Amino acid sequence: MTSDNYKLLIPKIDKDKMPNHIAIIMDGNGRWAKKQGMKRVNGHKAGVRVVREIVETAREINLKYLTVYAFSTENWGRSRMEVNYLLKLILDSLIGEIDDLVQNGVNIRFIGTEQHLPPGYDVKVEENCRRSWHNNDLYLNVAMNYGGRRELIEAVQVISTKVKDGYLKPEDITEQVISDHLYTAGMPDPDLVIRTSGEIRLSNYLIWQSTYSEFWFTETLWPDFSRAEFIQSILDYQERKRRFGKREK
Ligand code: FPP
Repeated sequence: MTSDNYKLLIPKIDKDKMPNHIAIIMDGNGRWAKKQGMKRVNGHKAGVRVVREIVETAREINLKYLTVYAFSTENWGRSRMEVNYLLKLILDSLIGEIDDLVQNGVNIRFIGTEQHLPPGYDVKVEENCRRSWHNNDLYLNVAMNYGGRRELIEAVQVISTKVKDGYLKPEDITEQVISDHLYTAGMPDPDLVIRTSGEIRLSNYLIWQSTYSEFWFTETLWPDFSRAEFIQSILDYQERKRRFGKREK
């Protein structure tokens, strides 16, 4: 499909069955770069261009919530050079894109832990993101230094402190209370989780929130992921029957 042909797919989307929230695991940058005879980091650079296209497409189809996995708590285990490159690429991309995001109705925030981040990183992120927080067309979460287990640990720490200080009783801890203490508090759970590059696993991504998500996998490496494939994932999602553990009526 040529880059513009995705527009032919857009009218096929059933507006009444739009997913509210799509979460993406952008995988395969390193393999893509290797295939082109380039260094892994060039794959990440190419990946950013695709993030931009997918955000633009998300706006075009009026998606409300989009979450992308940019850097996991496990990614610190990569070479120092690659980690430093990713940290810089992600912050530079935010700084480079923020004006456009603000103008296009996007409300962007980074979700993840502050642990191990270089000093001042979080402050720069917040300074930039804050400029978009009046927007409400598309909520874009960048999962940065994100790990689902770390997210749960931090939630449990806050909740247990509230119990200790008498603000909350153990028997009052419900699913809602836990959801309200996650980085995604106040947002709907993802309806659809997309993973590229042929890997079929969740990798510590939104583990609480994706309990009833539909999963969509493709062999495509992230830098080759297209707007058309993104729309196709939504069309496939709309064919699925979601029962949330209940019997079909
Ligand atoms: C996985 O591919 C990709 C990553 C760990 C990084 C993804 C980050 C970006 C595309 C930058 C996003 C930037 C913003 C501002 C949202 P991999 O390196 O694991 O690939 P491999 O499995 O082929 O080795």
